[in-house]
Order: sequence, then C-alpha cells, then structure tokens
Amino acid sequence: MKLVEVYKKIGKVSWKVLEAIFENMWDYKFVPLQIISNRANVSEEKARKILKSLSDLGIVINKQTEYEGSAFTFLGLSLFSLNRLVKRGIVNAVADQMSVGKESSIFNCYSEKFGECIIKFYRIGHTSFKKVKEKRDYGDLHFSVLAVRSAKREYETLKRLQGLSVPEVYAWEGNAVVMQLIEADELYKVKLKNPNEVLDMIIEEIKKIVKRGVVHCDLSQFNILVREDGIWFIDFPQSVDVNSESWLEYLRRDVSNVLEYFYRTYRIEKNINEVLQHIING
Ligand SMILES: Nc1ncnc2c1ncn2[C@@H]1O[C@H](COP(=O)(O)OP(=O)(O)OP(=O)(O)O)[C@@H](O)[C@H]1O
Ligand SMILES: [Mg+2]
Repeated sequence: MKLVEVYKKIGKVSWKVLEAIFENMWDYKFVPLQIISNRANVSEEKARKILKSLSDLGIVINKQTEYEGSAFTFLGLSLFSLNRLVKRGIVNAVADQMSVGKESSIFNCYSEKFGECIIKFYRIGHTSFKKVKEKRDYGDLHFSVLAVRSAKREYETLKRLQGLSVPEVYAWEGNAVVMQLIEADELYKVKLKNPNEVLDMIIEEIKKIVKRGVVHCDLSQFNILVREDGIWFIDFPQSVDVNSESWLEYLRRDVSNVLEYFYRTYRIEKNINEVLQHIING
C-alpha cells in the first residue's frame, strides 16, 4: 500500500469529498453522487471529476447502478482515517509498512506526543465463527463499516486493559488505531529458554484480563509478543465481554490454543480444566 505517496496527492476539496463518503457510508454501500456533491459543497460535475481522479489513485470505487455512487477502497478508508489522525496532531510522520495480513496493515509512525508508535489499519471486520450470524445479518454492509467497527472494538478493549500487558493505545479514527510499538517477537518465532515461566506469565495475564471483563477470543502463539523481560497480548478486535453469550467457550479455546502450543513445542503438560478454574476462581 503506497500510503504516503498517495496521501500527498490529495487536495483540499478531495478531502471534503472523502469526508462526505465517510459520513454517509453507514447508510449507503455506494454513496450517491448527489449527496457527495451536497455535503462537499461542489457541483455534481466537479464532484464527478474529483471522484474519477480519486478512483484513478485507487482511493474510491465509482459505480453506476440505479444511481451513480462511490465507496472507499481499503487504501481510501485508511488515508481518510490517517488524515483525521494527522489533523488531530496524533500522527506527525508515517514510516515503513511493518506488517500486512488478512485483517490489517500496520505502519510504523512517529508522534510528537507519544514517540515511536504504530498505526493498525483494519481491512475488514473479524470473521471468526462466532460472528457468522452477525455477518449474515449485516451481510450487505460495505467492508468499510465492518473495518471501522473492528478498529473501534480494538481501541475500546485496549483502553479497558491499559496497565496490563497490552500495548498502550493512543487514538482511534475510522479504520485506524494508533498504539505503542512493542519491540518484541511473536511467541511462535522464539525458542524460549524459560518456557515454564513464560507459560505461567501468560496464564496470569489471561486471568488479569478476564478480571477486567474481557476474553481475547483469538489468543495464540501469533498474537502474543515476547521478549526477555516480558510478554504482551495484541490483536483484540474480536474480543468479547465476560458474561456475554458463550464467553466461557471462547476462553476455553484461548487457553487450549496456548496449552497445546506449549505442549507441542516444549512438552509442558497442564490440565486445561485446572488452568481454567485458576483463571476464573483462583
Ligand atoms: N503494538 C505492536 N507492536 C509491535 N508489533 C505489532 C504490534 N501490533 C501488531 N504488531 C505486529 O503486526 C502483526 C499483525 O498484527 P495483529 O496480529 O494485531 O493483526 P492481524 O490483523 O492479526 O494481522 P494478521 O492478519 O497478519 O494476523 C503482529 O503479528 C505483530 O508482528
Ligand atoms: Mg494477529
């Protein structure tokens, strides 16, 4: 994603056009040209011209169905969110792309307020099995609405967990969350010298997180970062509240992923029921 390069090419009126799409994407998969031109305060002709050039840059998709309408691409939504962060003075410079996955793209960035940090741009709402029903209900929503929801969920969950072993979180706009850069490796990449100790740390951390009312729901060796002096949990967009439907099932699955990984990799055996008991009541 050529984020910075494209960012520089967007002029003042184009930002207004993008703002108009953002404001109305909740109601329209493709926001009608007429609404965009009204909100952006430009003629339909001018709006059409701008939308054509934004489409050439890969920022929007223009579609003629029963009406002329426009929607964000992933790049477009991310640029829009980045611009809001820049305007708020949260982000002062964007550096290299650090990771690109199915669910998100992550960039290193610099903030005068917070120092070196990262921006996580959500590509899409989380699609784990528990959301299948919800997905069907909202099956017709544009990806951008789902991506914004995921970002919001991650931001709110991280906010709730501040002070525990999660990244500090600084801001949320659109599909973007700005958080602390953790200089550590994913658990699956590391050969631990003290696996027993690390597993105990992970279990204690799950316990603290549950005490704050949260179940991660996608915990595994891929979403735990480790370094000599600590562990961090990341990637919370699919988290659920303790006491919500099936929360215990999700907790069991999280714990089971971790225990299986430690058994497979380090031959450490723990009884899952005892561990769960400890997390919930211990
Ligand atoms: N706060 C952070 N500090 C340092 N690295 C991070 C941070 N957050 C994420 N990363 C890195 O980016 C990768 C992807 O992040 P994350 O797991 O949050 O997103 P994801 O949507 O699951 O992406 P993927 O589809 O690739 O799994 C992580 O595995 C980690 O290497
Ligand atoms: Mg992940």
